[in-house]
Amino acid sequence: MWVQGVPYDEFARLRRQAPVAWFPDQGSGFWSVHRYADIVAASRDVATFSSSRGVSFEEPTDEDMAARRTIIDTDPPEHTKLRKIVSGTFSQRAIAVYEHFITELTERVLDRCPASGPFDFVDAVAKEVPIRVLAQVMGLPAADLDLFIDLGDRLIANTDPDITDVVWGRDDTDAYRRYPFRSPYGKQLWDLGRQVVHDRLAQPGGPEPGDDLLSRLLRAEVDGDRLTETDLDNFFSILVVAGNETTRIAIAQGVLAFCRYPEQWDRLRADPALLDPATDEVMRWSCPTHFMRRTAAADTTLGGAAIRAGDKVVLWYVSGNRDEAEFDDPDVFDVGRSPNRHLSFGRGGPHLCLGVHLARLEVKVVLAALARRARRFELAGEPRRIRSNFTNGLKTLPVRVSS
Ligand code: HEM
Repeated sequence: MWVQGVPYDEFARLRRQAPVAWFPDQGSGFWSVHRYADIVAASRDVATFSSSRGVSFEEPTDEDMAARRTIIDTDPPEHTKLRKIVSGTFSQRAIAVYEHFITELTERVLDRCPASGPFDFVDAVAKEVPIRVLAQVMGLPAADLDLFIDLGDRLIANTDPDITDVVWGRDDTDAYRRYPFRSPYGKQLWDLGRQVVHDRLAQPGGPEPGDDLLSRLLRAEVDGDRLTETDLDNFFSILVVAGNETTRIAIAQGVLAFCRYPEQWDRLRADPALLDPATDEVMRWSCPTHFMRRTAAADTTLGGAAIRAGDKVVLWYVSGNRDEAEFDDPDVFDVGRSPNRHLSFGRGGPHLCLGVHLARLEVKVVLAALARRARRFELAGEPRRIRSNFTNGLKTLPVRVSS
């Protein structure tokens, strides 16, 4: 079903007929949560809906979890301590200093796009910006960026044989169960992270207690202890995986939406005050991460369903973003939409996306730069989706831009 596209009609039916439904597949089965209000309620109630068994469909053992638990797979109070280490770097104020860098980067990237003739927007633009911004924030070496992109793709799009030769659910990855996404590429990402840390520690004058994220992680203490090597591995991998592909998807899906609804592009270009609401609408519409999973820590009820302790509970943000009980005309792409309390970054709970301000700034800067240059986007071929029920990624987006 997902190969064709996001099954919006099926989600609409489920919101009406089975707001919280049991599906017996994906291992031991799962509760599937479709309505906006139930998703927010579950996100808020972290004591009942725990993240400690991971946020994907996977069923890792205790040992697997211990080896590869990242901030996203923890509950308070552990979560609160980890979040405190990085929250300063990602606050709205701290992120604002990157606006100039992102603008210059975007202009450089757009300068290289062909003025006439079709090109692949994913490859030329959407892929280029987020990883370079992440490298700036984290203090990653420029030489490794292509490898970061490649490894991140192979992990997050691990159900698409065009992107990875190790497909989740098809290939036996038991030997890698302790690594991110249970993948040999998870191991490679850790190895790369360790190399980056090693080089940083070995640099003349020490690790330079700078203000980049890597310096902060190397200085950080939890309850008086420095982060362990495993803690660093896991922080590194979640930041690279969560911060790159997601933002790329929002940028690419945003441009696809403007190809399909050119009158919305005209509206945005005519009124720069629409940049903020347009950014949020691109987020709602693109919903780069379709779901997050929780696990019931106790017997409970949600949306009329009796959930038992230990059950898997999947919160479909992509469905909540189209819930007619929350959004007027949810299937209309409207750059002036207000209010727009979409779920694309999560909502209501402590796991709200750490990179929310950074991602919003990136998308806004790219939209603003495009609005200055592009009068019209047109599709120059069929976009190709990543084969995934988890991300809304595009492999290619052939466009023609007229200025
Ligand atoms: C359009 C871009 C992005 C989208 C759609 C997105 C989406 C999400 C979502 C849905 C969650 C989980 C929320 C929940 O469980 O309720 C999340 C968490 C997270 N995101 Fe993002 N994200 C984006 C960009 C970024 C960026 C740029 C970074 C950082 C560099 C980042 C880092 C993280 C981290 C570390 C977490 C875990 C937070 C925690 O557990 O406390 N994300 N993101």
